[in-house]
Amino acid sequence: MKVLHVAAEIFPLVKTGGLADVVGALPQALIASGAQVRLLLPGLPAIVQGVKLQKVVCTIGAIFGAGQVTLRLGKMVDSGVEVYIVDAPYLYKRPGSPYQGLDGSEWSDNVQRFALLGWVAAHLAAGEFDTGWTPDVLHAHDWHAAMACAYVSCRPVTSAATIFTVHNLAYQGVFPVDDFHLLHLPSRLMVPGGLEYHGQFSFMKAGLKYAHRVTTVSPSYAREIATGEFGCGLDGVIRARGAHVSGILNGVDSTVWNPEADTLIAANYSANLLDGKARCKEALQIEMGLKVDPYAPVFAVVSRLTSQKGLDLLLSALPALMEDSRCADAQLVIQGTGELTLEAAFTAAAKLHPGRVSVRLGYDEPQAHRVIAGADAMLVPSRFEPCGLTQLYALRYGTVPVVRRVGGLADTVVDATPEALRNDTATGFMFGPATPTALGQVLVHTVQQYRNPAIWHHLMLRGMAQNFSWSAAAAQYLVLYEDAIRNRH
Ligand code: ADP
Ligand code: GLC
Repeated sequence: MKVLHVAAEIFPLVKTGGLADVVGALPQALIASGAQVRLLLPGLPAIVQGVKLQKVVCTIGAIFGAGQVTLRLGKMVDSGVEVYIVDAPYLYKRPGSPYQGLDGSEWSDNVQRFALLGWVAAHLAAGEFDTGWTPDVLHAHDWHAAMACAYVSCRPVTSAATIFTVHNLAYQGVFPVDDFHLLHLPSRLMVPGGLEYHGQFSFMKAGLKYAHRVTTVSPSYAREIATGEFGCGLDGVIRARGAHVSGILNGVDSTVWNPEADTLIAANYSANLLDGKARCKEALQIEMGLKVDPYAPVFAVVSRLTSQKGLDLLLSALPALMEDSRCADAQLVIQGTGELTLEAAFTAAAKLHPGRVSVRLGYDEPQAHRVIAGADAMLVPSRFEPCGLTQLYALRYGTVPVVRRVGGLADTVVDATPEALRNDTATGFMFGPATPTALGQVLVHTVQQYRNPAIWHHLMLRGMAQNFSWSAAAAQYLVLYEDAIRNRH
């Protein structure tokens, strides 16, 4: 089976969040399971520079406002996975993130930038741009790649079956109706049953309406997005797809996240030999300017600082936690970047609690490894969470997750209730209501359980024994691909 994955990010070249980790790892797992997989990525500077052995597959010419578009094929340096690059310097050769300029505002020509990506994908899916390799399945990730599904639906020839994966329904790619002509799509698609969305048009809706199958990255989030509370205005569209929407949990790339072999952390360790973890904790306390104390519980956050992640709840719960006599030695490390108000508030909290709260603003991959390895507990208090990867990495590193019971967090952490502790299934702590009070209570409870070495050790080992493997996810995707190919209509 030949599968083309289409996305805007890939670890380790371009990453703004978990999407990049998935796009870096899932193709490798599918290849290991016997599929032939290639990627299609936009020619962002890091991708053009980082992909090796590029050769021109086809010269596309002037389209979507770009004077010259060329399709190249090369290989990822580490994994060797083959990658098509849409080389369109006018649209992609820019500093900043894939979606925004250095000033944080969206690129004004994102319609053309991501329509081009989907349009090229559809041509590849129909066997037109590379006659030597025609995929059976086109797998598009998030709104950036979603328009591929609409382009495929408009093609007269039989082309690949389409799968659309929602990594985050909150980012939709909605643009003014006046830009619709830029898509080069028939106007019959600009209707409520098509791409139209409250007088505008939506890339996300293109994936949800036109893909043969829709997936998201956890079973719970698949159920949640069919409700008004989590559907971001698209729950009706999702409900209408019925059983064609499903959830497949993300995995952990153990070539990147493995405490036994990680070269980015102070010392390696395993479930059998945990001494290295204590060294990682001490190194983290020193690096972050925290009081060096092996007995102090260290909480950590590694996150985009956005309202999704519920970190305003942590800010509100923090003063009481810092003053609570039961938590007098508790420490907190925040590593993140995002909304300026959250950045400023965490910086102020660190000033107020020197030696106990430490903040590192910015994006730093090696530091994320040091934080996750060195902390005792990983905090993920999200309002919604399609899957979440940091709690999975934390489990692998014996860092006990403390999460809100929502989305992929609910699917991957087992709350340490008395019963779960008795049954030897508990891996972390959970809270329900998205309130500072509920979060504060679980933080105090976590500190109390941390003081009980038998319980804490049990939680660490149980977490480290979890197996969120990409091969399990790949097996489920392969079943879905077969189904989409056979029963696509
Ligand atoms: P999301 O994709 O919603 O941001 P995930 O938990 O799925 O959330 O993935 C986040 C990914 O980004 C993880 O690999 C995490 O380690 C990484 N990450 C988040 N913030 C930072 C940061 N400031 N520095 C380094 N890595 C980060
Ligand atoms: C999104 C989600 C996150 C998920 C990631 C990878 O960014 O916010 O929950 O883990 O995509 O699928």
